[in-house]
Amino acid sequence: MTGQQHPKGPLERTLMIIKPDAVERGLIGEILHRVELDGFQIIAMKMVKMTESQAKGFYRMHRKKTFYKALVKFMTSDPSVLCVLEREQAIINLRQLVGSTNPDKAAFGTIRHDYATATRFNCVHASDSPESAKREVHFFFRESALVRIRRRIKKIYSMPFAKR
Ligand code: CMP
Repeated sequence: MTGQQHPKGPLERTLMIIKPDAVERGLIGEILHRVELDGFQIIAMKMVKMTESQAKGFYRMHRKKTFYKALVKFMTSDPSVLCVLEREQAIINLRQLVGSTNPDKAAFGTIRHDYATATRFNCVHASDSPESAKREVHFFFRESALVRIRRRIKKIYSMPFAKR
């Protein structure tokens, strides 16, 4: 866990992308392990080599930025792992677990602090708002692809991992 947790609040979904740099470096398992330890449920997941049209569409809000072309090239260079994650306050909690976009500014213990090598090779993407999360989840997944996981333990976030 990293810093302040936000355990209370609505159950939310968010999109995490394990980017090509992390896939290439064999970090899929490590990143998923951290996410699950933090209380997220993986409710959909697939490995995809993005097409140029997908990467351009997904990151279209950055189309006027100087780094857009390089970002699209990088995101289409190799496969990514796309994950829909669910928990209470999923969006803010995942952003906190992932850390700042620039790894030099990412808090100690965050995924980007520990693994990212540069802003453009920052290992993971995490939706930044409820509106983005909805758009991003449905950019890659149909609603019917999202599984429902029965929550048998009500106080799942306060229980030690070994007892889950
Ligand atoms: P991500 O969270 O996927 O959202 C947009 C991505 O653009 C970001 O992570 C970085 O990988 C990339 N990005 C953002 N700012 C810069 C920048 N200044 N230079 C290069 N890449 C950037």
